This record gives sequence, C-alpha cells and structure tokens, in this order.
Amino acid sequence: MRKVWWKEAVAYQIYPRSFMDSNGDGVGDIPGIISRLDYLQELGIDVIWICPIYKSPNDDNGYDISDYQDIMDEFGTMEDFDRLLSGIHERGMKVIMDLVLNHTSDEHPWFIESRSSRDNPKRDYYIWRDGKDGGEPNNWESMFNGSAWEYDETTGQYFLHLYSRRQPDLNMENPQVRQELINMIRWWLDKGIDGFRVDAITHIKKLPGLPDMPNPHKLRYVDAMDGHRNVEGIHDFLQLFKREAFADYDIMTVGEASGAPISEADRWIGEENGAFNMIFQFEHVNLDFGPEGRWDFGPWEMAKLKGIMKKWQTGLEGIGWNALYLENHDQPRSVSRFGDPDNYPKESAKMLATFFMLMQGTPFIYQGQEIGMTNVVFKELTDYRDVEIYNFYRERLMDGKDVEETMRRIAYRARDNARTPMQWDDSLFGGFTTGVPWININPNYREINVKRQLQEADSVLNYYKALIRLRKENEALIYGRYDGWLDDHPEIFVYSRTFEGRAFLIVLNFYGNAPEFTVPPEFAGFKRDVVLSNYPDRPDRKQSSFTMRPYEAVVFRLER
Ligand code: GLC
Ligand code: CA
Repeated sequence: MRKVWWKEAVAYQIYPRSFMDSNGDGVGDIPGIISRLDYLQELGIDVIWICPIYKSPNDDNGYDISDYQDIMDEFGTMEDFDRLLSGIHERGMKVIMDLVLNHTSDEHPWFIESRSSRDNPKRDYYIWRDGKDGGEPNNWESMFNGSAWEYDETTGQYFLHLYSRRQPDLNMENPQVRQELINMIRWWLDKGIDGFRVDAITHIKKLPGLPDMPNPHKLRYVDAMDGHRNVEGIHDFLQLFKREAFADYDIMTVGEASGAPISEADRWIGEENGAFNMIFQFEHVNLDFGPEGRWDFGPWEMAKLKGIMKKWQTGLEGIGWNALYLENHDQPRSVSRFGDPDNYPKESAKMLATFFMLMQGTPFIYQGQEIGMTNVVFKELTDYRDVEIYNFYRERLMDGKDVEETMRRIAYRARDNARTPMQWDDSLFGGFTTGVPWININPNYREINVKRQLQEADSVLNYYKALIRLRKENEALIYGRYDGWLDDHPEIFVYSRTFEGRAFLIVLNFYGNAPEFTVPPEFAGFKRDVVLSNYPDRPDRKQSSFTMRPYEAVVFRLER
C-alpha cells in the first residue's frame, strides 16, 4: 500500500456555527476558528475539515449554498478566510472544505433564473417536472421527510429536492452544470486549500425517468433510495470530477457515501481508479436504527458491529483507504449511543476513542468528541434548530402519531445533539460566546470543558493526545493490517494491527460489566506491554486471562 500524507494524518471536523464565536452575536465564525488553531495544533491535528462556510440563507446551516465562491456574512469575509488558510498552513496543518454538489440553495442565482420561466437558459440546471394526477410527479420522499417535490407557481411545475424544499437538486445530466461545478472546484483548489469532504455524493445520479417507487403500505411518500442513491452511471460523473479537477492537485478527498457498496470500492476509492481517496461509509452508525428506520431506535448488536468493522477493515486492505469516524454534525454523540454518559462518561469516551482511532484509515475527530461531549436534553420542540426535526415532527403529527413518542425519537436521533456549542470553559455558555448562543449549550459544560481537561492529567482530552501520539509514532498503527478476534464474544471487542514484524493488540470492553478476557491463542507466545489504557496498569494484565473493568481499553504492544 502506497504511503501518502493523508493516510498518516489525523483530521478534526469543525462545525463553524458552534465552534467559537468571536464577536458576541452567538454564532461561531472564522475569526473564532483562527483563535483556536493553536489548540488544534497542540492536540496533534494535521487536517481540519470545515463544514460549509459559503454564502447561504441557512435553511440547512450552510448546506444550502447561494454563492459557492463567497463567505457567509455571519462567518466573516473572504479576507478572514485567507487569514484562516494561512494560519492553518503556517502551523503545518491542512484544510479541507465541504463540497456540496448535489444541490444549491433556492436563493442561488442559478435557481432564481431557473424558476423564472420555462424557457430560461438555466431551466435545466435543476430538475423540473409536471405534476401527475393532481399531485407530485412521483411518490419520492425527501430525506428530510415529506415529498421530495415542491410546486412552483410561477411556471406551474414541480422541482425536485432530496433534502429541504429550499435545497433544489442540481441536474447533473446537464453538461453545463457539471462544467460550472468543475470551474468552482478548481477555483478553490487554486486558492490553495488541501482538498474536500464531498457532501451527499451518492445522490447525484437519479434513475432515468424518475419512476414511482413501490408503495405496498400505501404511504403518502416512500423511501426512494433506489431512485437516487448509487444509481447506475454515477461513476461517470465521479470520474469526470476526478479527471477534470481533483487529479491535478496533491489533495485529500473524502466522499460522504451513504450506501456505497464495498463491492465497488475500487471505483470509489481504489488507489489507481478511485474517484476519491476515502469515503465515509454509514453502516456502523446505522446500527441503532429501529424497525421503522432512522427515526426509530433500538439496541445495537455487538456481533454486527464486529462484522461491519471487519468487512471494511479487511475488505479495503490493498484496495483503498478507510475514513474512520464515530461522530459528525449529523450523528448523535457517540458516548450517548455506544458508551455510558451517566456512570462511565470518561471511561467510555476513552474506550470509544481507542476503538476508532487505531484502526486502518484516517481518523476524523468531531469537535467536542475529544472532551467526551454528550447528547443534550432539550425539553421543548422549539429548543431545536434543525429543519429536519421540524419536518419530521410535522409529518408524524399529520399521520396521527403520539407527540411524546415523537419527542423521544427526536431526543435520541436529533442532529442538534452534535450541534450544541463547543464547551471551552465553565464560564457562562462555556466560553463559546459572550452573547446568547444560536442554540442552547449543554448544561454539562460546567463539568465537561476544554479548560478543565487541559489541567487534568487523566482527562479524555489528554487521552486523545496520547492516542494521536501513539498512532504517529507507530507505522503499524497507520499501515498495519487489521484482524478482528473473539468474534463471538458478546462484550469485548478485540483487534490487532500488524506491519513488518510489529504488532499491536487492542482490547476493548464495550459494557459496564466485568468480563473475563483471554488472549487469543495466536498471540499466546508474544511478550505483551501495555502502551496505553484508560485504567491504571495492574499486574493481572500480564496473565493470559484477566478480568476487565467497565469500559476498559488496553493497547498492547506485542513482541516475539
Ligand atoms: C449531508 C450533510 C448534512 C446535510 C445534507 C444535505 O448529509 O452532512 O448535514 O444536511 O448532506 O446537504
Ligand atoms: Ca459570531
């Protein structure tokens, strides 16, 4: 496997709205990010991914772009961005931007023109259709609930929006659209940024004819993934963006690739043929879906988690590279899903860090994850800010569903769980703003915050630093082969990393019990040294079996 900088990097994701506010208006901004660059450098970060900071009316917090080549007023100016870029580069770090190709804002000049008349030259920049039988052109459901179509009175047609009604889908079949996007991509790369995280990229190709999806349960709108996700022909578009833009630069690209099958790994991320360097797959973060899907929830299964990690870790060996993550701005906090925020907040946060950071791939830490931030408890619907939540609530009530159950589901799954302000210190609003934050802060900021954790030797933050250091100092933890062990154990997750005669064994207790761990026979003859753990070392770990503590994580270096 080829050695390159982005495989050795540790990445950190910033959600700018909630990271750091510099001017007291309650909204995070670019000068705020600049003021925290030293913090990121000291943490050991190499690459920063910044969620969209482009001009936007903020229907979906910046994922609805009205000008790709300008900065959102609330976040600052292009001069601020240039200062950010050089501030990052001066510190030896790199930056990747969010690239949203599937849709724009309805306030983008292209869409304003497109909707103005049926014969406008930009009409075909978007996907317009006549209604059918007095309703929408087809039965597709938007990913944010409700119909994926919006009627527009000016021209008496509907336009397609897979996300909010203010995010019309671009028509990728139109070569002019593709060319505009290529020009825009090159413009940013020429400015000197170091790559992209590519948004919602599996959706850019739609099934020809936009047919109705089967609707056995006679729902108003139906999940239409088969109509617009990984549709045959998508690779032609992806390869075009690679050929016409990415391939000319030494950059890092990572696609948000919900549902991309591992069988197509070579075309997505193959060392030679792949459109991107890496993709974010979703299988492990979809494990706690309930029978009714994402907005329902249930317990996740250990055996499935092991199977998914093994599949991606060993399946890409020699083909491509993983993007490792447990959190981002769309996911609830990992400690609240896979750990125990009430009884073992620190232990479980550190265990989960050990779990994902030492696998094969480039790890992405989401802001606040490095201090073990947890889900928030909001009482009122109006405490939430995410457009998706309001759509979900409205649709549920229209279907006559129970309000309390609806609120319970929102509390668990809300993307806003990850979007509360970064907890910097224990002053009012966690040092995020001197004003009133745009979304409430999690009240646990008095206990969980950066300032305190910088001072405490055994904090989650210092554990992350140690993990990052360990990974950087050991090629085996970067390039080493992954093997999963104890596949049938219901509580302990074990994997090894081996590379050029060196090996590490990572042993993780995912629960609050005290199970017995026995070293797999394959490693019985090795000398084992503990190089990192979330518990003080103990003599019993030298034995080939020992009792694990709740949420214990142990990293052994193995030697013959
Ligand atoms: C991606 C983003 C998400 C956004 C959606 C539409 O999934 O991560 O935040 O709402 O695309 O752009
Ligand atoms: Ca601000």
